[in-house]
Amino acid sequence: MATSKMVLILALLLPLILSTVNGQVIKPEFYKQSCPLAESITMNVVRETLSVAPSLSGPLLRMFFHDCFVRGCDASVLLDSPTNQAEKDSIPNLTLRGYEIIDRVKSAIEMHCPGVVSCADIIALVSRDVVVQSGGASWEVETGRRDGLVSLLSDGLANLPAPFANITSLKSLFLQKGLSVKDLVVLSGAHTIGTAHCSAFTNRLYNFTGTSANSFDPTMDSNYVAALRKKCVQNGPSNVLVEMDPGSSKKFDESYYKLVSKRRGLFQSDAALLDNSETKSYVQTHMGGNSASFFKDFGVSMVNMGRIGVLTGNAGQIRKVCSKIN
Ligand code: HEM
Repeated sequence: MATSKMVLILALLLPLILSTVNGQVIKPEFYKQSCPLAESITMNVVRETLSVAPSLSGPLLRMFFHDCFVRGCDASVLLDSPTNQAEKDSIPNLTLRGYEIIDRVKSAIEMHCPGVVSCADIIALVSRDVVVQSGGASWEVETGRRDGLVSLLSDGLANLPAPFANITSLKSLFLQKGLSVKDLVVLSGAHTIGTAHCSAFTNRLYNFTGTSANSFDPTMDSNYVAALRKKCVQNGPSNVLVEMDPGSSKKFDESYYKLVSKRRGLFQSDAALLDNSETKSYVQTHMGGNSASFFKDFGVSMVNMGRIGVLTGNAGQIRKVCSKIN
C-alpha cells in the first residue's frame, strides 16, 4: 500500500522533476519581461510562412518531436555539422524540413532582444503556432529552455521511433522519455497533417511476408493497399509523397483516429495503436469526431513532451544563430 502511494506521488511529481534543472523551471510567458514580443513575432512568421508554403506545417510540427526525443528539447536537431555527423544527418531527420523558418524567427527576435530567446523555445512556439494556423486549438507553451552544445548522428536513430515500430517498443520509448501511453496515442494524432515518403511504408504494400511479392500487411485495409500501390510503385522513385490524412492533410483535426480505426493508418506505428486496450479505446472514442477533447489533450501532451530533458539555469547557452554553437 505504502509502495503504491510512493509510486503515485513520484508519477505526479515526474513532470515537475523533468521540467526542473538547476532549480529553474520552464513556465508560460518566461520572456514576458525580457522579450515581450517573442511570441507574437513567432506567430507572425509562422502565419506568413504557411500562407505561402502550407506544406511546411507538417515538418515544422514534426521538428519539435525530433528535437525533444533526442537529448531533450535543446535545439540539438538544428546544429549543422561540417563533417555530416550531427543529428540532422541521421536517417529519420533526412526528411525533416523547415530549418530556414526557425532561422527566420530567430533573426526577427534577435533584432528586438538579442541573446535572450533560445532556439529550443522557438521550435516549441513554432509547433504550437503551426497547429493553431492549421485549425487546431492553442495552448500555453512553457518557455525558458536553453540550447544544447552537442548533436550526434548516432543519437537520432537510437531515440526516434521507426515507422515499423510495434506497440511494445513505442510504449517503452515514450516511457523512457517520461511520457505516458496516453501521450503516445494523443501525439500520434499529429499525423493528421503532413505527408510521408513512400519508403516509410512500402514494406507494408509489397512482399510483406518476405516470401511472396504480392503479399501485404494484413492489418491494413486491402482497398487502401491497392490505392497506395498506385501511388507508390514497387522500387519506384524515392521522392514520392503521400498525404498521411488524405484530403485533410493540411487541416489539424481528429480525422487521423477515423483513419486508424478503419485500418488506414499509414505506418505500422499508427496501426499499432489498435494493439493496446488504452490506445485502442482512445482511437475509438475519437474516430467519430471529438475535436474539443482531442485538441485539449494534444496541448497537454505537447507540454509534457516539451519538458523532456530541458536545460535551464546556467546549463547550455542561448545560441546567437540556431545552426551553430556560440
Ligand atoms: C509515435 C511514433 C512516430 C513515428 C514512428 C513517426 C514516424 C514518422 C514518419 C516515418 C514520417 C514520414 C516522414 C517522411 O517520410 O517524410 C512522419 C511524419 C510526420 N510526423 Fe511522425 N512519427 C511518430 C510520432 C510523431 C509525433 C509525436 C509527432 C509530433 C507531435 C509527429 C509529427 C509528424 C508530422 C507532422 C509528420 C509530417 C511531416 C511532413 O509533412 O513532412 N510524429 N512521422
